[in-house]
Amino acid sequence: MNNVMTILSTLDYGPAPEDSRIVREWLEKHRAGFGHFIDGAFTEPGETFAVTNPATGEIIANVTQGTAGDVDRAVRAARAAQPRWAGLDGHERARHLYALARHVQQHARFLAVLETIDNGKPIRESRDIDVPLVARHFYHHAGWAEILADEFPAARPHGVCGQVIPWNFPLLMLAWKVAPALAAGNTVVLKPAEYTPLTALAFAEIAREAGLPAGVINIVTGDGRTGGEVTGHPDVDKVAFTGSTEVGRIMRRQIAGSGKALTLELGGKSPFIVFADADLDAAVEGVVDSIWFNQGQVCCAGSRILVAEAVAPRFETLLRRRLEKLITGDPLEKSTDVGAVVHPVQLERIRQLVAKGVAEGAVLYQGSAPEGCFFPPTLVTNVHPASILCAEEIFGPVVTLTPFRTPDDAVALANNTRYGLAASIWSENISLATDVAAKVKAGVVWVNCANIFDAGAGFGGYRESGFGREGGREGMAAYLAVASPQAKVPEPAPPAPDALPSGPVPGGAIDRTAKLYVGGKQARPDSGYSFPVLGPKGPVGLAGLGNRKDVRNAVEAAHKAGGWGAQTGHNRAQVLYYLAENLSARAAEFAARLVGLGAAKDAARLEVETALRRIFWYAAQADKFDGAVHATKSAHVTLAMNEPIGVVGIACPAAFPLLGFVSLVLPAIAMGNRVVAIPSQAHPLAATDLYQVMDTSDLPGGVVNIVTGERDVLAKTLAEHDDVDAVWYFGTAEGGRMVETASAGNLKQTWTEDGAARDWLGGGGQGRLFLTRATQVKNIWIPYGE
Ligand code: NAI
Repeated sequence: MNNVMTILSTLDYGPAPEDSRIVREWLEKHRAGFGHFIDGAFTEPGETFAVTNPATGEIIANVTQGTAGDVDRAVRAARAAQPRWAGLDGHERARHLYALARHVQQHARFLAVLETIDNGKPIRESRDIDVPLVARHFYHHAGWAEILADEFPAARPHGVCGQVIPWNFPLLMLAWKVAPALAAGNTVVLKPAEYTPLTALAFAEIAREAGLPAGVINIVTGDGRTGGEVTGHPDVDKVAFTGSTEVGRIMRRQIAGSGKALTLELGGKSPFIVFADADLDAAVEGVVDSIWFNQGQVCCAGSRILVAEAVAPRFETLLRRRLEKLITGDPLEKSTDVGAVVHPVQLERIRQLVAKGVAEGAVLYQGSAPEGCFFPPTLVTNVHPASILCAEEIFGPVVTLTPFRTPDDAVALANNTRYGLAASIWSENISLATDVAAKVKAGVVWVNCANIFDAGAGFGGYRESGFGREGGREGMAAYLAVASPQAKVPEPAPPAPDALPSGPVPGGAIDRTAKLYVGGKQARPDSGYSFPVLGPKGPVGLAGLGNRKDVRNAVEAAHKAGGWGAQTGHNRAQVLYYLAENLSARAAEFAARLVGLGAAKDAARLEVETALRRIFWYAAQADKFDGAVHATKSAHVTLAMNEPIGVVGIACPAAFPLLGFVSLVLPAIAMGNRVVAIPSQAHPLAATDLYQVMDTSDLPGGVVNIVTGERDVLAKTLAEHDDVDAVWYFGTAEGGRMVETASAGNLKQTWTEDGAARDWLGGGGQGRLFLTRATQVKNIWIPYGE
């Protein structure tokens, strides 16, 4: 029995259960089962499946398994509602979003309790974190709707968005997806996760209560098959997904070549780096917030602790002590720290991964957990970077601990993963922390804090953690389409290069074969073949027939030139200006080359002149296309840094052999990327003539690599290459589909367009869009104050 004396001696919390009566009444009201929410009304339940409370195993609702027909009806409702919704004044849409925010606040406790019953997360978290953030997202995006026309003057909505969300933050992920979509003037078909569909259905009721027009939000429940129907529906214009990397890959392939916009927020294996001078007590609390928050079912969970050797034993002791104090149990109990795992299937997945880790020699230190769908908070030691528990996303309350010696070691270990979602860095030395923040490959970095979110800053990953951002200006941009050019006559597939020996070498020169350009040096093609480049009157020269091996060498050379991205924008600008100067000195020669390839004299001069101006323009941008400081939480600065993507493969259009190349390669290198470029297949010589210009312009070897040959063969190799971070492809529709499909391996970013569609000579060939494509935003959170 609890009396004052025992409480004072044990310092235990007394029971403080959350009252769930109102939610249970609501569930009782829907005992017959839930239908979908389509066109402003709930459908009759169809074939249903059971939804359980993971903490008790009790069935709490029956929900309809959405069919292809259901999805089609939802998409048609969204399509029908979209023009009117987009036609509203931004202010009117803003009022609707404000109304959603207000109604979420009015029902905050209801939503928090329902979320906890459905998902198993502690009420403390759903009440204090999830639901307030949901409201915050609707408020923030109400603001974007209000000012959209001023802030994004040229943009228009995509149309109908198909959104598929996971079970770890069911209502919050809905808000992250729905709020920006609606603010931009899109309508939505959303599929919640099958384990946790209830808050989405409650939200549908709330949206109706708040007066949202019918068809603007449609919710279709079901499992992955229903998700596939949503993302694959031909009348969906944009797909947004949060979930596992595996499903992200399936989606990438599913919609390749469809022209649908895509953002993916996928898995992670985020490092939590503790330096010797860190405030260790604070860092221990950081671990609690990182991996024992939401049972570790967090895509950005700090699941790999890397701790400086000098303080590792002490840190481990402190962490163990803290772990012992965590209360795992009833999620509706207000003092519970760790709740139930979402579903027995997920529990089994965690158990199996941990068992494999133990079989490899991992040592576990665990807290306690009750019987049922619970997993104890777990600290794992005696692991090495390749151990399964260090490599795989566990999505449970399990964290590994690995010591490191130097900051360089820490960075190498941190980046030793295929993911790149988040990182948390702990040090009292702000120079060290920000230096490491710049070096880790992650879309979000928390310095001396962890798992902090706000609608005002972008969230999203690098590498296999996906692409695109949610939140902030970048998140808004992801729901807006920039008018994409349409070619009147699409680019035809060029004939395959003919590598058979042909007539005499044109021009009578001794050797007119343009080689490849790899690592700042001219290189013979591995194939040993070359192909004639034709002008209007026959061959004008020969170009090397590059192959897979040449592409691999070029990618390797590009990787070695990584220092380019670390140079200042000013330094890069100097090199680009020098490049322009050297090209300018040889303008007549380049124009003559273009004439030789078939251009009229004036057109050739104009192409060279435009290319020159374009180099100047990107040189000017090299130190100006910078980031922002976001106003997010109090006492935090959130730095949104534009970082280069890394190694970018570029397949150039057939037309404008010089200008097409310059228009794509220059923005990429101005932002610090390294490039492997495939110049115009038919007329590569305008680009290969640039070797000498680059050699004399102080451009470091490996920043630009050029492989000539058959565009689609080379582009496929680039798209499949795991060390290429993005591919831009400007060719045929079929080639674009091929690149998008092949990119799914490491989920690299792609930009595919019909090569003939852009007005390369005019404004369409240059601009901030190219710079946006050449960068990814890293958000670094730094707290200040005592
Ligand atoms: P999942 O990726 O299969 O499920 C997420 C959502 O995608 C659900 O709504 C599901 O119905 C839907 N879905 C599944 N297959 C689909 C398809 N082919 N087309 C369209 N939609 C589809 O994740 P799952 O199976 O629930 O969890 C497995 C593992 O994935 C977890 O253990 C965890 O490691 C990871 N995961 C990561 C998340 C993240 O936020 N990074 C979220 C959920 C899971």
